[in-house]
Amino acid sequence: MTAHAIQLERVRLSYSGKAVIETASCTVRKNAVTAVVGPSGSGKSTLLRTLCRMNDRIPGFQVEGQVQVLGRDIYDPGINVYDLRKRVGMVFQKPCVFPKSIVENVLFGLRFHATINGKNFSERAEQALRDVFLWDEVKDRLDDPAHTLSQGQQQRLAMARTLAVDPEILLMDEPTSALDPKSSRAIEDLILSLKDKHTIVLVTHNVDQAERVAEDLICVDDKTICHKPCHPLPGEGTC
Ligand SMILES: Nc1ncnc2c1ncn2[C@@H]1O[C@H](COP(=O)(O)OP(=O)(O)OP(=O)(O)O)[C@@H](O)[C@H]1O
Ligand SMILES: [Mg+2]
Repeated sequence: MTAHAIQLERVRLSYSGKAVIETASCTVRKNAVTAVVGPSGSGKSTLLRTLCRMNDRIPGFQVEGQVQVLGRDIYDPGINVYDLRKRVGMVFQKPCVFPKSIVENVLFGLRFHATINGKNFSERAEQALRDVFLWDEVKDRLDDPAHTLSQGQQQRLAMARTLAVDPEILLMDEPTSALDPKSSRAIEDLILSLKDKHTIVLVTHNVDQAERVAEDLICVDDKTICHKPCHPLPGEGTC
């Protein structure tokens, strides 16, 4: 069995024919944290969204080459995108909460993926909220509208919703950019606690954060992707 959760071969990602990324090869190890860094506009979010087919509906977006996720080419016509999204969860830069109560936001994914046993919904919701260090703040107001939470709380709620369905791969696009330092560190702790059982790909502009949580580093720049040591030996250099 491959030790790679994600493997790109000769991949070109483009909008209306204009390439954003052209890479000969790129891999992400299973059950490790990989940080993705690079200048603004270099294609980090495009890359991440490609890995769970979130770009499918963008007019003019095109994927060429092979995008293997958990052993399958996810752009193969036989792929069930809903199953893929259960196995590959994504957390966005802007907190994405639905116009529902706090608890319904956590349960949304569980209800959507009907194959998940419905009996344990409330336990799973509580666990997911505990995992993102939000339970104590919301346990007495679970039925309040999610939009009454602060931005940082909404981001942790969005994470809880994603984690509740237990994805094997977690894609995080600058998940802490809307959070204060304390909440950011809490999310970093969460990432570290998840990595034994999950593969995490984390886009961040924060090099210190990448050093704290990631084993592997991918640099996206000038359309290319390269792997760099995250904790370089003296003289080795990072991006
Ligand atoms: N929906 C879209 N249609 C056309 N071009 C797009 C679209 N989304 C992104 N792009 C272009 O693709 C390039 C990469 O954008 P992307 O958002 O992936 O960069 P990024 O590295 O995530 O930047 P940032 O660090 O600012 O979030 C940019 O030139 C951007 O203008
Ligand atoms: Mg981005």
